[in-house]
Amino acid sequence: MFIVFEGPEGAGKTTQIKALAKRLEQKGILPVITREPGGTPASDAIRTVILDPNLEISPLTEFLLYSASRAQHVTEVIKPALNQGKTVVSDRFYGASVAYQGYGRGLELDFIYNLTKRVTQGIQPDLVLLLDIDPEKGLERVAARGQKDRLELADLSFHKKVREGFLRQAEGHSSWKCFDATQSAEQLAKIIWETVLPYLE
Ligand code: TMP
Repeated sequence: MFIVFEGPEGAGKTTQIKALAKRLEQKGILPVITREPGGTPASDAIRTVILDPNLEISPLTEFLLYSASRAQHVTEVIKPALNQGKTVVSDRFYGASVAYQGYGRGLELDFIYNLTKRVTQGIQPDLVLLLDIDPEKGLERVAARGQKDRLELADLSFHKKVREGFLRQAEGHSSWKCFDATQSAEQLAKIIWETVLPYLE
């Protein structure tokens, strides 16, 4: 079972991943919790480069860096865990590249999907939980947290395109489930659990 959380900035993924992990553990399932970009030492090093607000990075380079981070993550963490029958919960996967580098930065979607097939070795999430939030609201939440990274600093029109990219993917794929991320964290955790439970059974 491979579960992915996605969403625009400030959607509250971290809180929801913790809540889901806790519920899974109570059911006797010890999930592998991981994230992108990151999840391995090399991928975390790439993350530092990608998110550095002092660096100028072109859309193509940005996508290749996310892909490099993902390739290592799939090889080192996701694939071995799934092969061992473990449940993997990842904070983002390639849907984020489609939304951010495709819809947001304007790279061709065909190109993104083609390279991604190689990078992910064909691994697809069973369930993608999209926490949807208006970017204006999401970025307000991010600003309240403190310093912004390179992506969070991008302008509002970029973040609106990213949200659109997520919503389009959710419309087009039955494995995607969309949730209103402005409701209370407790309520959201409850409906996410109700969505995940049938997949476990
Ligand atoms: P995070 O804030 O969810 O940890 O993700 C880091 C940032 O990287 C966030 O702004 C989303 C962005 N991102 C992409 O642009 N493309 C990707 O493929 C991934 C995984 C993340």
